[in-house]
Amino acid sequence: MAKPPLIARSILITGCSSGIGLCVARGLADRGHRVVASVRHAEAIARWPHVDIPVVQLDLSDDASIDAGLAAALSHTGGRLDALFNNGAFGLPGAVEDLSRAALRAQFETNLFGWQVLTNRVIVLMRAQGFGRIIQNSSVLGIAALPFRGAYVASKFALEGLSDTLRMELKGTGIAVSLIEPGPIESRFRANAEAAFRRFIPIETSVHAIAYQKQLARLNQPGIAAPFTLPPEAVLKRVIHALESPRPQARYPVTVPTYLFAALRRLLPTRAMDWVLLKASGGGKR
Ligand SMILES: NC(=O)c1ccc[n+]([C@@H]2O[C@H](COP(=O)([O-])OP(=O)(O)OC[C@H]3O[C@@H](n4cnc5c(N)ncnc54)[C@H](OP(=O)(O)O)[C@@H]3O)[C@@H](O)[C@H]2O)c1
Repeated sequence: MAKPPLIARSILITGCSSGIGLCVARGLADRGHRVVASVRHAEAIARWPHVDIPVVQLDLSDDASIDAGLAAALSHTGGRLDALFNNGAFGLPGAVEDLSRAALRAQFETNLFGWQVLTNRVIVLMRAQGFGRIIQNSSVLGIAALPFRGAYVASKFALEGLSDTLRMELKGTGIAVSLIEPGPIESRFRANAEAAFRRFIPIETSVHAIAYQKQLARLNQPGIAAPFTLPPEAVLKRVIHALESPRPQARYPVTVPTYLFAALRRLLPTRAMDWVLLKASGGGKR
């Protein structure tokens, strides 16, 4: 890990009950940054393991919760916020033709709309400070689509578009926008995706019912990770750079699949890229 930073930054992180958010909160606090973690549910506050890191409740699907969570976070930082790590999200597997309006809306409420509401609130503070770092946890699925991941892919492609636009609009303000693009990372992502899948997708009655049973079996194999899976510390490393470097990058690819798909997308025509992505997903079965 790089040497400790010269300047301790205040940072709010969303989605810290597990996985990447939990790891990044611990890692940044250990480097001396003033971290405020946020979690969606009150029970997660009760279970919060790190007494030295303040934790607040913030549900990204609810504007009132975003306002209350941000106000609570600012009470821990003296009203200043140097950085925001937008991270809390979930995956909703399922074929595009099985996505209801409610399903797509739920995916976007959390993964995109909530992030932008929070970001816009924080930009007001950052503009007044003349400094800020907005760090977006996107995905390899923000640059390449895979079958049966349409809702999640759409939310991350949209996040990439908003972030690229925002970065240009904020040029010269002292506020930098960085996208982290992880491939598979160890976390509770699959378990949480299974819950969303069961809630929103007509698993039994879909034309894809047989494929869905296989997908459920895959989501239910906690011990078996996707190829090239890395621990969440791989993301932490990129967040540290985006937060501490005088010249944060616009994009931070993480894991082999992200580097590979980003390169292939630049080189291959769309139909050849489809072939690669279908192969990589086992014809949509993985
Ligand atoms: N794991 C991967 O392979 C991978 C790859 C690329 C990108 N990512 C991205 O990494 C980020 C973190 O995911 P993870 O892998 O760490 O998965 P995770 O262990 O499932 O963590 C997701 C976190 O988001 C929270 N969350 C869900 N809905 C929320 C809402 N409405 N408001 C606030 N928080 C909410 C969850 O809280 P609850 O516990 O309350 O559900 C949890 O704390 C996500 O943006 C994901 O898209 C993950």
